[in-house]
Amino acid sequence: MTSRPVIDNLSSFWMPFTANRQFKAAPRLLESAKGMYYRTTDGREVLDGCAGLWCVNAGHSRDEIVAAITQQLNTLDFAPTFQMGHPLAFEAASKVAELMPAGLDRIFFTNSGSESVDTALKIALAYHRARGEGQRTRLIGRERGYHGVGFGGISVGGIAPNRKTYSGALLPAVDHLPHTHNLEHNAFSKGQPAWGAHLADELERIVTLHDASTIAAVIVEPVAGSTGVLVPPQGYLQKLRDICTKHGILLIFDEVITGFGRLGKATASEYFGVTPDLLTMAKAINNAAIPMGAVAASRTIHDTVVNNGAPGAIELFHGYTYSAHPAAAAAAVATLDLYRRDDLFGRAASLAPAFEAAAHALHDAKHVKDVRNLGLVAGIELEPRDGAPGARAYEAFVKCFEAGVLVRFTGDILAFSPPLIVSEEQIAHIFGTVRNVLATVQ
Ligand SMILES: Cc1ncc(COP(=O)(O)O)c(C=O)c1O
Repeated sequence: MTSRPVIDNLSSFWMPFTANRQFKAAPRLLESAKGMYYRTTDGREVLDGCAGLWCVNAGHSRDEIVAAITQQLNTLDFAPTFQMGHPLAFEAASKVAELMPAGLDRIFFTNSGSESVDTALKIALAYHRARGEGQRTRLIGRERGYHGVGFGGISVGGIAPNRKTYSGALLPAVDHLPHTHNLEHNAFSKGQPAWGAHLADELERIVTLHDASTIAAVIVEPVAGSTGVLVPPQGYLQKLRDICTKHGILLIFDEVITGFGRLGKATASEYFGVTPDLLTMAKAINNAAIPMGAVAASRTIHDTVVNNGAPGAIELFHGYTYSAHPAAAAAAVATLDLYRRDDLFGRAASLAPAFEAAAHALHDAKHVKDVRNLGLVAGIELEPRDGAPGARAYEAFVKCFEAGVLVRFTGDILAFSPPLIVSEEQIAHIFGTVRNVLATVQ
């Protein structure tokens, strides 16, 4: 039952990435959460098939994390990290660094994925400038990439509606790789598709066009999430790495979704065995309990920027009031300890085959035109309804929610990324519910 009266005025909150009028006409309100389940304001349990927004990897309201935050707020609510510090900021950075690929052990804290992306792009420019190549300012993203909503992130990003309204104000020196989605070759691939590594060679074409001496960095999501789960073709990321290295271009992996166990390893970089120069993260860094993000920089990049500054001078003019906020840092330390104690990344790896099988069992479900997956991520692409793109997936999302399962949808793609504590029965329940729902969707 409802513990509080349902709010009767929904008008003040201008909701992000939401069809505000449609939502407010028929709201879906979550009131509490524990473990794998949300509870709605009308007292229903909803199984979380997407870890909130790909972020609550240890499950909801974990006691250890709540206790760490509570204790921290009672001890030190805020401390500046500009020309000041507090011990937990350094402890959190060390713990994050331990999980990063070898050599990426210098950690800059932010408050979100968007800020992490803009921070990484700025560090890339600062690095080239510090080493005397300040003309390297061009940034290369990829079609269908999602890198948050800052002006840097939407400029290198490749999601058309996120760019359209702001198109006159995007960063000027940006180009894009082609995306890797191709159902003709790769439909119903399990894990990494076999076709498409050659698409990385497009980077050579872009380098020829602009000249390497103008290009600072390439940024990609190792597995593209928000656009609807695009798994990199076999060999693709290694090719990007090799071309970047050859031309002195930095490679940035945006691991805001893939970081902290989603693929069964601490990072996608570790999973694929491809190491970038900069790695962005957020979300599961502290189980999303308090906003936090970070950028891991290679020691070379860090040392080049920091050692280039005059003694006593600030080396990087960048930072946020809440960089390494004490409560967020406490949550990060507790979360990373929990991941290790419960071996949640190993758990994700061992669940991946069952997750893959359950997702691909929907290959013959109504409306389904592709199923794709890696680790504990899956995407199910639907045939769009004639003249109404996105409407079919939206209907499926609403019906799943009414049936007690939370999924994500983007365009006509349903996306799945449960907390890493999910059980095999719950995996079966998530995909079984989706199958039943799709049978009823127009
Ligand atoms: C790959 C990637 N980068 C950046 C972001 C932006 O993160 P935030 O919403 O915390 O700004 C997201 C969010 O989903 C993401 O998936």
